[in-house]
Amino acid sequence: MDIGMRHLHVTAVLLLLLFILFKTVLLVANKTEQLDRIRDKTKVVDMILGLLAVATGIYLITLKPTVEAYLWIKILLVLVAIPLGIVGLKRHKKPLAILSVLLMVYVYGIGETQSYKFKRDPIVVEKSDQAGREIYQRLCVECHGEDGKKGLYKSPDLTSSSLSNLEMTDRILNGKGIMRGYKNELTGEQVTAVIDYISTLP
Ligand code: HEC
Repeated sequence: MDIGMRHLHVTAVLLLLLFILFKTVLLVANKTEQLDRIRDKTKVVDMILGLLAVATGIYLITLKPTVEAYLWIKILLVLVAIPLGIVGLKRHKKPLAILSVLLMVYVYGIGETQSYKFKRDPIVVEKSDQAGREIYQRLCVECHGEDGKKGLYKSPDLTSSSLSNLEMTDRILNGKGIMRGYKNELTGEQVTAVIDYISTLP
C-alpha cells in the first residue's frame, strides 16, 4: 500500500508536469487556439491527476514521523505553483505559466533530493556511545522503526539481516531502491556507529 501510493504520487506528478510543460510551450509559441482546445479536452484528466497527486502526497506525509523543512517548502511552493499555472494558461499570461513550470520543476527536484538546496547537509551529532542510536532515530526510524522491523516501503527486518557489515555500510552510504544513500550526510565513523546500534536491536 505504501509503495503503491508512492508510485502513484510520482506518476501523477510527472504526468501533470509534462502536461503543463506541453501547454506552456504552446503558449510561449503563441499557439493559443491549439492551447485552448487542448486545455478544454484535458480538463477532467488534469483535475483527476491533480487530486491524485495531492491526496497521495498528503497520505505520504502522514507516514513521516516529522515534517522536515524541505517538505514544508515543497507544500508551500505547490500551493503557489498550481494557481499560477491555472491562471497563466487560462489567461494566456506567459510569465505566470513559465514561473509555474519553473516552480514545479524545482519542487520536483526538492522531492527527489529531499532538500531545497538539492544537497543534504552532513548530520551533526556529538561523539558518544549514543551517537549510533541518535542517528538511527533521526534518519532511519521512519522506514525501519524503533525495533528495526517496521517494514515501511517493504524495508527488510534489520534484526535478521544477512548482510555483512561491509555490505551494510555500502547499503547505507549508497542506498538502494526507495532507500536513499547517506554518503553526503554521514561519515564512515557515523555509519559504523549506526551499524553497531542496529546490532544491539533485540
Ligand atoms: C525511506 C525509507 C528508508 C529509510 C529512511 C531508511 N531505509 Fe534502509 N531500507 C529501506 C528499504 C526499502 C530497503 C530495502 C532496499 C532493497 O533491498 O531494495 C532498506 C534496506 C536497508 C538495509 C539492508 C538490509 C538487508 O538485509 O538487505 C540496511 C542495512 C538499511 N536499510 C539501513 C538503514 C539505515 C541505517 C538507515 C538510516 C541511516 C536507513 N536504512 C534508512 C528503506 C529505508
